[in-house]
Amino acid sequence: MPTLLLTGANRGIGLGFARSYAAEGWRVIATCRDPAAARELSDLAAASAGRVAVHALDVTDGAAVTALARQFKGEAIDVLLNNAGVGESGYAFGKTDYTAWAHTLDANAMGPQRMAEAFADAVARSTKRTIVGITSLMGSMADNGSGGYVAYRSSKAALNMVIVTLAVDLAPRGITAIAIHPGWVKTDMGGPGAKLPVAQSVANMRKVIDRAALAESGKFFNHSGEELPW
Ligand SMILES: NC(=O)c1ccc[n+]([C@@H]2O[C@H](COP(=O)([O-])OP(=O)(O)OC[C@H]3O[C@@H](n4cnc5c(N)ncnc54)[C@H](OP(=O)(O)O)[C@@H]3O)[C@@H](O)[C@H]2O)c1
Repeated sequence: MPTLLLTGANRGIGLGFARSYAAEGWRVIATCRDPAAARELSDLAAASAGRVAVHALDVTDGAAVTALARQFKGEAIDVLLNNAGVGESGYAFGKTDYTAWAHTLDANAMGPQRMAEAFADAVARSTKRTIVGITSLMGSMADNGSGGYVAYRSSKAALNMVIVTLAVDLAPRGITAIAIHPGWVKTDMGGPGAKLPVAQSVANMRKVIDRAALAESGKFFNHSGEELPW
């Protein structure tokens, strides 16, 4: 039974990933900040015959990440899926909230690096050996024609660089690292006007993740599978 380690599993795209992998019989280590409040995830775990386990994890908390890795020491993790992320309501130029920006960078870019450093041994021990960063087209330099959202954009651009760097650093251990844009998805972050239902985005991204191999490591994919410009 392959194993998924997932961040931000309690709602939105993360909950969609947890449901998708659980339905296919994977073991899912589903992490979220507040398991006691994660009712839908708890229901999924309760109905999973032990395959889905919920663990508390804030990806900005280095000690918590290390403690979780200690719990799974010696085990194999096929896919480390860095989904957790914070958005931005948008600041006008001149009104930048630098405290919030620092937190956004911590959660969206440093969080995935922390997870990769803590769990690289477990991923290297697995069959699929894949690390995924759920990024955003808003992190693309080439795509930025509309400006604004500097905190979110820069955090996802930094995440993209984290993924490319992981691809280089972890290639000797046979680990593939890819970045995927989920599309504009109907979640709390994407809002009700978004185009894609969670299940569709997740189904599309599953195809990209399932086919990931070393030859594709360090690439930036749309949910639908084509490569995106940095
Ligand atoms: N929806 C879109 O259109 C869209 C587009 C492009 C990229 N994305 C990316 O897709 C990913 C999932 O987004 P979503 O749309 O599902 O957003 P969402 O509904 O707002 O969910 C965000 C998830 O991330 C978790 N999270 C936030 N900060 C965290 C932290 N420090 N530690 C652990 N978990 C944390 C949240 O947990 P809490 O419940 O505890 O807050 C929640 O589970 C994000 O990385 C986002 O940037 C989304």
